[in-house]
Amino acid sequence: MGRRWVFLIGLVGAVWLLGSGHGGQQPPVTAAQRCFCQVSGYLDDCTCDVETIDRFNNYRLFPRLQKLLESDYFRYYKVNLKRPCPFWNDISQCGRRDCAVRPCQSDEVPDGIKSASYKYSEVANNLIEECEQAERLGAVDESLSEETQKAVLQWTKHDDSSDNFCEADDIQSPDAEYVDLLLNPERYTGYKGPDAWKIWNVIYEENCFKPQTIKRPLSPLASGQGKSEENTFYSWLEGLCVEKRAFYRLISGLHASINVHLSARYLLQETWLEKKWGHNITEFQQRFDGILTEGEGPRRLKNLYFLYLIELRALSKVVPFFERPDFQLFTGNKVHDAEKKMLLLEILHEIKSFPLHFDENSFFAGDKKEANKLKEDFRLHFRNISRIMDCVGCFKCRLWGKLQIQGLGTALKILFSEKLIANMPESGPSYEFHLTRQEIVSLFNAFGRISTSVKELENFRNLLQNIH
Ligand SMILES: *[C@@H]1O[C@H](CO)[C@@H](O)[C@H](O)[C@H]1NC(C)=O
Ligand SMILES: *[C@@H]1O[C@H](CO)[C@@H](O)[C@H](O)[C@H]1NC(C)=O
Repeated sequence: MGRRWVFLIGLVGAVWLLGSGHGGQQPPVTAAQRCFCQVSGYLDDCTCDVETIDRFNNYRLFPRLQKLLESDYFRYYKVNLKRPCPFWNDISQCGRRDCAVRPCQSDEVPDGIKSASYKYSEVANNLIEECEQAERLGAVDESLSEETQKAVLQWTKHDDSSDNFCEADDIQSPDAEYVDLLLNPERYTGYKGPDAWKIWNVIYEENCFKPQTIKRPLSPLASGQGKSEENTFYSWLEGLCVEKRAFYRLISGLHASINVHLSARYLLQETWLEKKWGHNITEFQQRFDGILTEGEGPRRLKNLYFLYLIELRALSKVVPFFERPDFQLFTGNKVHDAEKKMLLLEILHEIKSFPLHFDENSFFAGDKKEANKLKEDFRLHFRNISRIMDCVGCFKCRLWGKLQIQGLGTALKILFSEKLIANMPESGPSYEFHLTRQEIVSLFNAFGRISTSVKELENFRNLLQNIH
């Protein structure tokens, strides 16, 4: 089993050599091929190929999933965006109202230091502009209609009355608020550079089971990554046990997915009248082009498909939970709720019918003691990563980061609970396995994000086809 998990680095290298080694007779490599040539055919770890996933997702799943996510049950997500960052203090104030620094007017500055301070205040001015832009772009719209607020109160009662043994840690806080996800789409916010890098670095560095003996940075973002170091990195990765390697790939896949969204909904133009969002091919290439990223880009995209398969698998496993007659997508409107539950089940059955499911046998279900230990390890790492999300300076990025981490955490919880789900009573309360509304909303929205990424890859593939 372990072998199937081994990164196909060697193979990728070989494909690369074949692709570039024939000199003059080769037709020119198109921009599309540079991002996608290695992202086709069979995926590393399963009997599944990219084209099958694309077809299945883009035409059968994606449209229905979008419809489901627009419904009231799924569009309101309760989240506490005000928790302080537990790991460091120097969190960027960008995206917060009080982040602006008023620069000195030039006549306030004594002549003697003007020549030096001129430069300073220019930098400061730019900083303020950046901050203000991030604030505008990254702000979270918290408006809910009065009607919705009432309904939400009812939902809470409904949730409290059911058997929640696994409460997400912060939604009971008075600071937690409902957010309308449709009003706050995930898109380019201007939040990048050192602050965003720091977050991802900490996630990779501290929380991806990095052994003490490895000194070099784990993050594939780290600069100055020479070829030999890269080999060390990947041989380290191969030395890890299957599950820990998978953990790294899931994080990398999530990172890739978020970057696909930001490239697909880039702020292209801003006038006083309107903002125009759309595909930015350059941004996409900078993150995923095989040459520009020294081979990292295609690996990131493969990890994105890996993440897709893991979440798809979790959804197929959890069907019995949603099929129970007791389960409702409760919003207070009976007819509407029943309709949405039908749509939900339709989607889940479609997912179950996917012919090439990832085979997780012996992945999460090893010897019981070992499996429990691993489950606990994963849980701790995930906890930690969700707390790191409180350090994200841009509120909108924080919102979507938290949601996607929670969704992935829920998917893993499902995969780790396979036996409990299989033994669930057909009706009546289930004490062994339960999902809260919070977990359900994040699970489906997180999968919706990955599904959107896969769909967007098709769009980028088409856009890149016309470029050489
Ligand atoms: C959690 O993250 C912090 C900050 O990066 C790190 O210092 C700590 O070792 C991590 N703990 C675990 C269990 O991963
Ligand atoms: C697209 O992204 C690139 C790189 O991030 C940036 O330099 C460029 O200005 C963007 N293009 C548009 C039209 O916004």
